[in-house]
Amino acid sequence: MDQIFNLIELEEKRQEETLMMIPSENYTYPEVMKAVGSCLMQKYAEGYPKRRYYQGNEVVDEVEDLCRNRALEAFGLDGEKYHANVQPHSGCEANLGVYNTILNPGDKILAMYLPDGGHLSHGWKWKEEKTTFVSKVFETEFYRVNPKTNLFDYDEIEKLAMEYKPKLIISGGTAYAREIDYKRMREIAKKVGAYYLADVSHEAGLIAAGVCRSPFEFADFVSMTTHKTLRGPRGAMVICKKELGHQLDMAIMPGLQGGPHMHSIAGIAVALEKTKSEEFKEYARQTVRNAKKLAEVLMEKGYEVVSGGTDKHLVLLDLRKKDGAAFDKSTSSRGWFVAWALEYAGIIMNRNTVPNDSGSPFYPSGLRMGTPAITTRGMKEGEMEKIGNWLDEIVQIVGKRELPEDAEVRKAYLAQFKEEMRLNKRIGEIGEEVRELCKKFPVG
Ligand SMILES: Cc1ncc(COP(=O)(O)O)c(C=O)c1O
Repeated sequence: MDQIFNLIELEEKRQEETLMMIPSENYTYPEVMKAVGSCLMQKYAEGYPKRRYYQGNEVVDEVEDLCRNRALEAFGLDGEKYHANVQPHSGCEANLGVYNTILNPGDKILAMYLPDGGHLSHGWKWKEEKTTFVSKVFETEFYRVNPKTNLFDYDEIEKLAMEYKPKLIISGGTAYAREIDYKRMREIAKKVGAYYLADVSHEAGLIAAGVCRSPFEFADFVSMTTHKTLRGPRGAMVICKKELGHQLDMAIMPGLQGGPHMHSIAGIAVALEKTKSEEFKEYARQTVRNAKKLAEVLMEKGYEVVSGGTDKHLVLLDLRKKDGAAFDKSTSSRGWFVAWALEYAGIIMNRNTVPNDSGSPFYPSGLRMGTPAITTRGMKEGEMEKIGNWLDEIVQIVGKRELPEDAEVRKAYLAQFKEEMRLNKRIGEIGEEVRELCKKFPVG
């Protein structure tokens, strides 16, 4: 057998035996896997239904039309007023497609500050270092969360928008656990004559289920990935007001991409159909209940949950503080240490920056965790309590760790830390308990 298939089997086992708690991951449906692994991947279909550049598209035209219609239906949108493009290969391309629709090089974008929870694709740059292609092509500026509440500060966003005068304002990100006031964002954009893009990559499934607020009435464009709370395959979509639809299509193809991935589009269509079921709506509700429970358990133990809770599927912990204790140097970068120790126990979360992080993006002070995948497995509040207890035990085992400044010393120290965690008796036992729990909630 090709070694790749051995590796796939190993990955399948890893996904079965660990707690997948990265908020942007999920287990998709067997039907989605079937569609994505189908003969549709062999078809080139540059263009759009009934306007293709190649022959032989009568079937894939229907696939794409079904997917576009289902996208609008999933969010309760009127086909007379809204338009869906389901071709972006991923979330980054979906956002590029929006920029290519309305912006010219040098135009200004105002988006959420990455270390506060924004996303790279919104034009991240670090000081004057233009880290992303978007920041090289456009001018980008960022708004931050309120330093006291860690929530969006709409008055500050408005003030900044009035000064900066962007052509596009973006909301959405990867680590903001609270609802966004889309109406207020729309008002701010309108006041400065900007377009408004709501990137709902994380919460798309929760919006489809009616569990989170819907941005469609307020945003000119809504972009999303399809593989997170939506439970589809990797892929993305943009939905916009009808009048911008043709421009958006042209901006994505030929503007940005070649042939659409018809197999992914078919998979997205399958996942979108599922969002209509009561089962999916209950799944989305349970995902949020689980995240709230996890936040509650951790707060009861004295942990600092950023913004004091969650409205969605994710929880962000600031590991610098516990029981209100003041921050000291040894708790900076703690996210790195804790995420590795958790991995040795089969609990897969990710280290993350937190607002006003004293660590760096690679060695941040926070920990981000999500409930979409474990809820797909059927876990509920009781299991969240167990996970909260394990997490607390592991943070205590990790204890105080100071990241050495010298690169060579740091390398040796981190390697030794990982070995210590891998061999830790209690972490090994927790790993066994995690595997037992996973057995009770089989995947698929
Ligand atoms: C808010 C947001 N936008 C865009 C993306 C980019 O998606 P992709 O990784 O599919 O390019 C992500 C992915 O995590 C995201 O969270």
